[in-house]
Amino acid sequence: MDRSAVEAVKARINIADIIRRYVDLKPVSGRWMGACPFHQETKPSMSVNEDEGFFYCFGCQASGDVIDFYMRINGLEFRDALEQLATEAGVELKGYRQNQQDVERSRRKKLLMEMHDEAQHFFRNCLGHAVGQPARDYLKRRGTSPEIIERFGLGYSPDDWHGLDNFLKGRGRMPEDGVEAGLLSKNQKGNIYDRFRGRLIFPIKNLSGRVIAFGGRIITDGEPKYLNSSDSPIYKKGEHLYGLDVARRSMNRTRRALLTEGYMDVLSLHQFGYEDACGVLGTALTTDQVKRLAGLCNRVDLVFDGDGAGRKAALKSSRMILLQGAKCRVVLLPEGKDVDDVLQEHGRDGFEQCLDNARDGLDFCLKTLRDDFSPREIMDWAGSFLSELKDPALAAFFLPRLAGGLGLSEAELRRTFTGDRAPARGRNEPAPAASPAPSAVRKAAPREKESRNDRTYLTFCIKYPEYIPYLEGQEMHSVLSTEWARALWEKLRVMQPGEDALSRLNPEEKSFFIQCRNQLAENPLNGQELQQEWSFICNSIYETRKKAYLRYLRENIRLAQEQGDRALLEQYQRAYQEFLGRNQ
Ligand code: GTP
Ligand code: MN
Repeated sequence: MDRSAVEAVKARINIADIIRRYVDLKPVSGRWMGACPFHQETKPSMSVNEDEGFFYCFGCQASGDVIDFYMRINGLEFRDALEQLATEAGVELKGYRQNQQDVERSRRKKLLMEMHDEAQHFFRNCLGHAVGQPARDYLKRRGTSPEIIERFGLGYSPDDWHGLDNFLKGRGRMPEDGVEAGLLSKNQKGNIYDRFRGRLIFPIKNLSGRVIAFGGRIITDGEPKYLNSSDSPIYKKGEHLYGLDVARRSMNRTRRALLTEGYMDVLSLHQFGYEDACGVLGTALTTDQVKRLAGLCNRVDLVFDGDGAGRKAALKSSRMILLQGAKCRVVLLPEGKDVDDVLQEHGRDGFEQCLDNARDGLDFCLKTLRDDFSPREIMDWAGSFLSELKDPALAAFFLPRLAGGLGLSEAELRRTFTGDRAPARGRNEPAPAASPAPSAVRKAAPREKESRNDRTYLTFCIKYPEYIPYLEGQEMHSVLSTEWARALWEKLRVMQPGEDALSRLNPEEKSFFIQCRNQLAENPLNGQELQQEWSFICNSIYETRKKAYLRYLRENIRLAQEQGDRALLEQYQRAYQEFLGRNQ
């Protein structure tokens, strides 16, 4: 990792400016506060500290620096986040990609993106010219407005085996690269030809608005109705959502996502003013997609057909969203209609009615289970749902609701499914009677106390780094009892003043560090309090070292006795008495 580049990016970019693009920030006593985009939240739980360059959420403990934020909200890898921020900051990342494989991969991706730009240019051009007449007629029949055609960059692929193929060749592209890009196809004989022929083209973009794939709808009779680009190094099915690059801006305001199943549905929703709409791309909703959405809004409203298949899809999708701890609602449309039909036939009023009748996601699941599933299937569903809930807090949240909704006792449900997992206790139940054996308690207690002391010492170091040299003088490392604390101390000890502290720390350390800095910002100590805390720390360190010294002397006394070394024994005993005397 090129640390100097990372530091340059962080020095030049104001974290509040980046976060403000996604979150409404308000000044609160010298810091910024806003609703955390990483969990469901309407209250301002996230604080952004401009001076120190980090954010911290009191609700979900999400925290980190500007690169962490950018990665998480955009679903990017570290390298890609850094690259994008570096471009914004005008920082050159030279020497950053040392790994030859990475260099090559990055070069290929760039090439494939450029080819997608060219293909996009070609498809749009075709839609605008004579060859695009059938597609323009088709869009007219479907009532798609020119603004929407423009906003979503729709195009047309002529009914030609070598339209795009020849166009790309004219640009000096290799047909094989077109195949890798998923734009061209290759048959068994090795002939290369256009993948999309005679189709209305929907460009699929990533969050930064770059075209990474296409979807194509047949406009005459033919099969299949829709065709998507195949997976490529820049596009993986199930990672992206159609229209999210456009919808995210308005999701930032509404804090909601309308999620539909079809391309045309997304277009219609936007056309009728629902600009927070996006679509899954002909696959079942994936965890990746949910995570991406959950980072951008508080609630996902699923918009599905009211028929059996639609309900089934809604059940699967809401389950997926609830498992991620996000909020969801289910908007069911009249049987046999999709949202495009509803909007084109009944306008906004028609769809508003459907929105008014939306159900809470969990209620919807429970009702569907009760209505359509056998007892066996219901219990299987509940069991797998609970077992996939990784977070015990979420399990505790869902258990009583699930039990209530299925008409089971909570205890029964828990016994059946959670086995040995951490007790998720309902509010009205007594605490478990069994307590650990006394010996275990006695053994565990000091260890807990020591690690609490470690935290106290390190909290102080992080809050008041100017004291670190003094603590170093007191041989701080020798009083730290946990591995974790010693590792963090080592990093704090060598940190230079003004250095970007976070870049050295691992995620756990980072989160601890930020919590401490936040405490300081929230609750700065006055001179007297600081004095008290410092004496407390010095005192505890002294006590700890004293005990260690006495232990050392006692151990040596025991050894001297064992070996019958009278002189040595006397020497240690004297030291022991003197030390005790001095420290009465
Ligand atoms: P229109 O008929 O144009 O209104 O499209 P629709 O979106 O209403 O179609 P439908 O409800 O049949 O399908 C919903 C979505 O599933 C589509 O938008 C596609 O993303 C996907 N899809 C439908 N048919 C196919 C297909 O044959 N192949 C693939 N790969 N995806 C399909
Ligand atoms: Mn449709």
